[in-house]
Formats: sequence, C-alpha cells, structure tokens
Amino acid sequence: MEHKIKAEAFMKKYGMHYEDLDFDRRCKDFVSEMENGLEGKPSSLLMLPTYLTVSENIPAYKTVIVMDAGGTNFRIATVTFDERKKAVINDFKVFPMLGTNLKPNEEVSADEFFNTIADELLPLIGKSNTDSIGFCFSYPTEILPNKDGKLIRFTKEIDIKGLPGLEIGAGINAALRKKGVEKDKRFVLLNDTVASMIAGISASSRRTFSDYIGFILGTGTNTSYIEKSEKISKIDSAGLPEKMGINIEAGGFLKVPSGDIDKFFDAATVTPGQSIYEKMISGAYLGTLIYHVINFAIREGLFSADFADKFSHIRDITMRSVDEFCTYPDGDNLLAAFVEGNEDDRLTLYYLLDAVFERTAKLVAVNIASVMLKTGSGSDPTRPVCVVAEGTTFYKSKLLRPKLDYYSKIYINDRLGLWFEFQKLDNATLIGTAAAALLN
Ligand code: BGC
Repeated sequence: MEHKIKAEAFMKKYGMHYEDLDFDRRCKDFVSEMENGLEGKPSSLLMLPTYLTVSENIPAYKTVIVMDAGGTNFRIATVTFDERKKAVINDFKVFPMLGTNLKPNEEVSADEFFNTIADELLPLIGKSNTDSIGFCFSYPTEILPNKDGKLIRFTKEIDIKGLPGLEIGAGINAALRKKGVEKDKRFVLLNDTVASMIAGISASSRRTFSDYIGFILGTGTNTSYIEKSEKISKIDSAGLPEKMGINIEAGGFLKVPSGDIDKFFDAATVTPGQSIYEKMISGAYLGTLIYHVINFAIREGLFSADFADKFSHIRDITMRSVDEFCTYPDGDNLLAAFVEGNEDDRLTLYYLLDAVFERTAKLVAVNIASVMLKTGSGSDPTRPVCVVAEGTTFYKSKLLRPKLDYYSKIYINDRLGLWFEFQKLDNATLIGTAAAALLN
C-alpha cells in the first residue's frame, strides 16, 4: 500500500489526482458547453451538425468507395451491402496518414494530400456503381449542407499545410479532374464517431436501444449523438430532418482541471491551449504525458537512481509500451526491463500508471454521462443507450475498462439513474461511412 499512497500523493501534489475531479461539476460544464455550441455561442465544444439522414433502408448491391483518414492510418476500400444489409468490404488498402510523424522542417501540402487521394481513388472508380464517395474524416470539420466538409483545424499532432479552411471533396474533385476524371464525384464527409453511430443504427440487431452515441477513444477522442434539429439554433432548421447527428468534438473540451504536468506537456504540443480534454486521455498524447509524469516522479525521488539512469535514455513512451508493462510487469518489455530487480520501482510505476488511467476512466464517464444528460435518453435500463465504441486506447488499455465500468456504475447508473451499453462492431467506421454515402 505504501507505494500506492506515495504515487497518489504525487498525483495530488501536481493537481492530477482523480479524486479532485468533481464529476457533477464537470458534467454540468460539459452540458452547458454543448448547449452553447448548439446555439452558436462561444464554447470549447464545436457541436458540428452533420446534415446526415440516418435510416435502415440501405440500398443493396450498390458498390461505394469509402475512405477513412484517421490519426494514424489512411484506409480506402469499396463496400457493398447485400439484401440482408451485410457489408462486404473489398479492395482494402491501408497506408500511414499524411502529415503524421513529420520530421523537423518536413511539410506536407494540401495539394500533395489531394493528389495522393486522387491517385488512390483512380483504380477504384470503375469498380463503383454510384457517384457518391464516403469520406470518414476524423478532424474538426464543418460539414456543409451539400455534405462536403471544410477542415476547421487539425488535432492529433497532424499537420498538412494550407488544408484548414479548404473544402475537402472539392479539392479531391479538382485533383481528379487534372487526372482525367470528367464527372465530379459527390463526397459525403463525416466524422468517425458519426460513422460508428450510423453503423450501430443500421446494424440489424434484435436489441432495443433508446438512443445511439458514437464514441472513439483511439489516437484522438470524440463523441457524437442525435439531436433534435430545432435545438441546433445556430443553423436554419427549416427543411431539415427532425433529428440530426451532431459531432460534439468532445476532445476540445477545455473546462477540465489540468494539472502542472498536463500544462507542461501541453506547452510542447503542436496545438498548445487546445484539445485539453483529449490530451488527458487519448492515445496520441497519453504515452507522452505518462513519460512526463515518470520524469517528474524521478525528480521527486520516487524511483531508484538505477531506474532514473535507464529512463534518461528514452525521450518518449508509446501506449504500446505502457500497455505491455501493465499486462506483463515481469515480461520482456521496455518498462519491465527498467524496473527489473527493484520491487519498489515496479510497484511505484504500476501505481502511477494506475492513477493516470483512473483519471482517464473518470473523464470518459463524464463525457458519456453528459451526452445522456443532454438528451435525457437512457432512463429505462431495459432500453439502454447504445454507445458504439471504437479505438485502440479504449480496447487495448488493460487498466481502463474495469475503472470505466466502476465509474459508469457509481455515477451514471446509481447516481443519475441512466443506462447505456458499449457495443463493438467490426469495421464500424468503414461500414457507417458506406451507409452514410449511400443514404445521403
Ligand atoms: C478529432 C475528432 C475525432 C477524434 C477520434 C479527434 O482528434 O478532432 O474529429 O472524432 O479525434 O478520432
């Protein structure tokens, strides 16, 4: 216990202890930021309308091209639904997302981005029998009523020069024209959380859910939900469907108490002062945040001189290394090697990581609870809200899920009387993107 007490006292001292996170207050702030965002008032939550209609009537045997630009990878494929709405994915290809892991002074331009995509699309165009192309574009993007989208800003440490402000579909069409494609394609842009939510809605399930939420905790984090169009007062809702998906851009939430090490880390990111919530919980940041936590702890004398020496040779930690240690603290992995032969170091490291994930879990529970508080859905446990969840940080972080289940129970079920279930769907983003492109 002595190691746990020390690790937790350290987190408290630096303003990062999970107990100091007031669940009710943060939910209240989150809901009020959601409302401000819908009304077009200043808010750290962008609350982006999707203009997408969601229904289960997906046309069968139309083959649509889908693309997915995420924080790590770019994926492209064709998708065809059969008459039982089963999606068949073909022509799948994956490569690193442009603008990731840039070396100092290295730049990627918007033209390079559009050209690369056009080159990837060319071989697939003949395979599709619709002019629509679904593009899951997982960055804060203003979707236009014609379903094209304008990038507002990058997140997840990605940078493509000149892309913010441009219409993505229009840019790809211009690049395709230069390569001899005569007829413009109809791009349907959507966020990955929205795509996952649509996949959940369109999946044939014998379960009854009262509502749907799309949730991603991977390289980045975000949530989407379904809102009454009349509540989105920043847009003219005349002629729009009664309800519409909203991309909250939850990672942008700023009303979270960040500690000294969060602030130290934030100052060195590509976007200081932005996405504070995302930087506390998502995979693009959590490894590096943990790296700094350990370094601060070394300076406070929490680790042995031998550990400090070994640690001084690395400049960062990946989430994979963190997870390998959490799963195999005695195994053959980077952090286990650093603590080998020293039980104090092993336990101190474990309890520091445990405290970081405890805060992550509580912050995730705040996000999900707030969305349910906003919609009022989920008060009947026999018809819970379906939270379609995606992302490596969510599924692969050993310490996270049991803690999230704990906060869901004590706060969301017991205190708020609200009920939800996480759902995992294979290829949710690609399938949801295909469904959105075929239905809109
Ligand atoms: C982006 C969101 C995205 C989320 C999950 C965030 O960094 O801003 O648009 O949904 O990551 O991929």
